[in-house]
Amino acid sequence: MSITSKQAEPELGAKSLAVRTKLIDRTVKCEEVARRGQAALAQEVVQTVDLPHQIYIDSAEGPYLTDLDGNRYIDLTGGFGPNVLGNKPEPVEAAMTSQIKKGWHYGIPGAGQARLAELIKECAPAVDEVMFCNSGSEATMFAFRAARAVTGKRVVALFDGSYHGIHDYALVKADSKSDRSTPSSTTLGAGIPEEVSRDLMLMLPYRDTNAYELIRKHKDELALVVIEPVQSSNPRLDNQQFLQGLRDVCTECEVLLMFDEVITGFRIEYGGCQQYFNIKPDLVTYGKAAGGGLPIGVVAGCQRVMNTFSGADDTPGIFAGGTFSGNPLTMAGGIGMLEYLKENQEEVYPYLHEQGDRIAAEINEFCRSNNIPAQMMNAGSMMHLIFGGETIESSRDIDHSHYSLEKEFYLHLLGHNVIIPGIHLAFISFAHKPDVIDQVIDAFKRTFEDLRDDGLI
Ligand SMILES: Cc1ncc(COP(=O)(O)O)c(C=O)c1O
Repeated sequence: MSITSKQAEPELGAKSLAVRTKLIDRTVKCEEVARRGQAALAQEVVQTVDLPHQIYIDSAEGPYLTDLDGNRYIDLTGGFGPNVLGNKPEPVEAAMTSQIKKGWHYGIPGAGQARLAELIKECAPAVDEVMFCNSGSEATMFAFRAARAVTGKRVVALFDGSYHGIHDYALVKADSKSDRSTPSSTTLGAGIPEEVSRDLMLMLPYRDTNAYELIRKHKDELALVVIEPVQSSNPRLDNQQFLQGLRDVCTECEVLLMFDEVITGFRIEYGGCQQYFNIKPDLVTYGKAAGGGLPIGVVAGCQRVMNTFSGADDTPGIFAGGTFSGNPLTMAGGIGMLEYLKENQEEVYPYLHEQGDRIAAEINEFCRSNNIPAQMMNAGSMMHLIFGGETIESSRDIDHSHYSLEKEFYLHLLGHNVIIPGIHLAFISFAHKPDVIDQVIDAFKRTFEDLRDDGLI
């Protein structure tokens, strides 16, 4: 199996030219909006795939997205994760519609915060209290601050390959040239002082027990160890042993452990990865699905840490707030979503795992038998196609030199009417019924065949 040097600069073969022509010809209105947007927007924040222009969505229903020109796609974007029930699910729409009639932003809280907090607390034994904010990034920012306040220590540890949002303490990455077991960290993008990665953060190796030794070594300055129990860069569920070891070492060293469940919460199981792996962290962050598709972040955890929000029991108080935090419309969306998921969890989650596993198994078998150097990794309904033949132990094993081939792949997939966004992380939902999943698998196979016909794989 190999990927030839053509992949760095793919030459356009007949299939590649044809798909571009097809996509451009059928997206005339999108092109017009793209032209207008370019003149006024500094950055088109949400990306799909690199057409000569962007595709804009006009409406969404169940497993489908429809663009401005009326083209319908099977949606594997999942709204970047929140849409566990698909697009515009009826229970969420009903809850939000009823709230809109009563107004959607009061400043003063409505009854929704208490109800949504109860729902989150009920499904997570680690959670005594909950605090709402507006995004996963805000949640991780508040959580790091709370941990620093309650412990009086400064350093927060993250894992190589993780993503925790867009604030300065989250935009710290492992230097890919550093040793795999003792990674050093660097900031991502301009504008973040290097002191952040040098003095205030510690990078740990993922799925590598040297992480435990580094925690022992740094325990006196470590306020918090943060992990995505399933990393979206390499989604997988074989992390039980590593996570249990991490829980044990954090307990031994009296260092707080946080699960960032912004993606995995209410997606891997109703009770997230805490339920799947049966492990209790000290702090948890949620977002995405918890708001039913409206912007939300949630900091949740044990009483001792959550006391920093109220200053109770003489705990050092942190500053927290936000104009839209806990707004009634988001609370209504979240309640509509979680009440449905709670009620139907025995149907929803086995289905998501079964269909996610089916996609991965069928695509991997197709790649194996056709000698195609790609593999589908999945953790239930969350999946990532990785190019290159390597065994993936962590994101360190992902060969990023195939990026232009990947972009070509997703362009052809769009030509087969399946949409996966530019981050290449795909989600299915409960609305993706088996016949839709069949179409997804078929589109993947046809896309691989396109690339093979053009000599790209
Ligand atoms: C694990 C994790 N944490 C935090 C975030 C940040 O959430 P948001 O994009 O809502 O700020 C994300 C977003 O993808 C995430 O996957």
